[in-house]
Amino acid sequence: MENASKSKPFFYDITLRDGNQALKKPWNTEQKEVVFKELVKLGVQAIEVGFSGSSDMDFEACHHLASIAPDNVVIAGLARAVEKDIIKVADALKPAARPRIHTFIAMSPFNMKYVLKKDPLDVRKTAVNAVKYAKELIGEKGEVQFSVEHFGDCAENLDFVIESLQECVEAGASVINLPNTVERTRPFAFVRMVETVKKALPQGIMLSVHNHNDLGMAVATTVESFFAGAGQLECSLNGLGERAGNTSIYEVAVALHNCGVEVPLNLSRIYETAILTAEMSNIPIYEKAPLIGEDVLAHRSGIHQDGALKTQKMKKGAYRPIHPSLIGRDDAEKYGFTSQSGKTALYEIIKAKGYPITVEETLRLVPIAKEQAEKFGELPVEAIEDIYLKEIFQVDGPFKFISFKKLDNGEKDKFNLKFNYKDKEYDLIEEGEGPIEACINALNSAGFRQKLVHYEQSAFGEETKGAQADAMTVIQFESEDGRVITCRGKDPSTQKANVKAIFNGFNLIYPG
Ligand code: KIV
Ligand code: ZN
Repeated sequence: MENASKSKPFFYDITLRDGNQALKKPWNTEQKEVVFKELVKLGVQAIEVGFSGSSDMDFEACHHLASIAPDNVVIAGLARAVEKDIIKVADALKPAARPRIHTFIAMSPFNMKYVLKKDPLDVRKTAVNAVKYAKELIGEKGEVQFSVEHFGDCAENLDFVIESLQECVEAGASVINLPNTVERTRPFAFVRMVETVKKALPQGIMLSVHNHNDLGMAVATTVESFFAGAGQLECSLNGLGERAGNTSIYEVAVALHNCGVEVPLNLSRIYETAILTAEMSNIPIYEKAPLIGEDVLAHRSGIHQDGALKTQKMKKGAYRPIHPSLIGRDDAEKYGFTSQSGKTALYEIIKAKGYPITVEETLRLVPIAKEQAEKFGELPVEAIEDIYLKEIFQVDGPFKFISFKKLDNGEKDKFNLKFNYKDKEYDLIEEGEGPIEACINALNSAGFRQKLVHYEQSAFGEETKGAQADAMTVIQFESEDGRVITCRGKDPSTQKANVKAIFNGFNLIYPG
C-alpha cells in the first residue's frame, strides 16, 4: 500500500486535550500556551485546544489560545453530544479564524448498552442533533467534526455506524473521526473498517483516525489508515494521552516520510519539541523511546557497530531508521562497549577521547575490556580510558626497567642500561647512534633480539595540556615470525619516553 496516497497528511494535534486530560496535573492557560506555540512551530495543521466544558480553567485556556492562533491553523474544541458542551466550545473558539467544533458519542454495542444505556437509534439521533446544533453555532467560517467513540469496537454493527455517519454528514459534519478509543482491535482489522467507511462517505468528507496505544500499535494503525484513505491523523506530542497514550506524532511523521510521503511538518523541530514536552508534562522520555530516546542512537553489538561505522556519514545507515539530524538531533550514533561489543566500539571510543591508537593495539585491548564488561556491564568511557592508559603505556611483563644513563664517550654515544628480567638483574653498557639504538643494542646483547622497523616522536595530550604535553615515542618491532608490534612510551622527558616505549614493547613480545 506504500505511496498509495499522493496527498499530504493533515496533522490534527490532540496534546492539549487528550494529552492534557491524562496529566496528573493538567496545564493552566500559561502552560498550554507554551505547548501551543511549540505546536505552531512544528507546523501542525490543526490543534484541539481543550475540552472547554470540563472546567472554567479549560474554557479560559481554549478562548485564549483561539485568540492567539495563526489564521492558517484549525482550532478545535471537544464537546460531548450535548448542547451545553457545544455552546461552550462555540463561545471559547469565537476569536479563531478557523474554528471547529468536535463532538462525539460512542456507538459500540458494548458502550451503548452498558455505559450510555441507550438504544442505538437514540444514540444516532443524539449524534445527528449534536452535529446540526454545532453547525448552526459555528456558522460558515467554521467546521464540525464528528467522532464515533469506540469505533474500533464497532465491527459487529458497522452498517449501523456507517448509516449514522452518513446522517451526520448530511447534518453538517465535514470531518468524520474514527477512534480506536481503547486499542483492542489489531491494526489490519481496524484499517479494513476505515476502508469500508471511506467507501461509504461522500467524496469531499475528510476521514480521520484517532488511535490509542494500549497495545503499542497506535502508530502502525495510524500509518496504515493513512494509506487506506484517512487524510487526517490525530496524534500527540510524545504520544501523550489517556492510559498508554495516543499516537506519537513524531513516529507517524517519520514513518510516512520514510515511505516517500510529503509530510507537512518541520521535522527538524521534533527533538526539541519532545524535550520541551517532557519538561512541561513531567513525563520523562524513556531511554528506548523510538526516535527521541536517549539511548536509541547507541550500538552495542559488534556486528551493528561495524555496520554503523561503515555507513555513519551516509543518509541511510545500516542500523538506524533515519539520520538523527532529520529530527534535529545533533548527537551522533554512539558506541557502547559491553561483552557483546567488538573492536570498532573500542577504537571509536578511544579515538573520540583524542587518544592515538592503531587497530592492532585495539585488538590487544578487546579481550581485557571484554573481561571487565562481562563483570560490570557496559564500561563507562573512563574505564576504557584507564584500560588504554595502562595497557598501552604501562605494559606489565618480565622486564622491569631500573635506569638508563649516558656515559661520557667521545664520538659515539655510550649508555648504561640497568633492568631486571624475571628477577635477574642486568647491568649493561652499549653504544649506538642515539639512545634508542643504544638501549636496543643493550637488550640484544643480553639475548633479547628484536628488529626495530619504525620510530616516531610526537606529543601526547596536546589538546588538554598544550605546551606541557608529554613527549610520546611510537616504536614498531618486527618479530621473527613477521608480526609487527606497536608500542608507545610517554614522559615529560623525550629520552624517558623512548626507553618506556622500548620496555613496553619488550614486555608485549616476551609476556613472561
Ligand atoms: O479516544 C477517543 O475516543 C477520544 C474521542 C473523544 C475522540 O478521545
Ligand atoms: Zn482519545
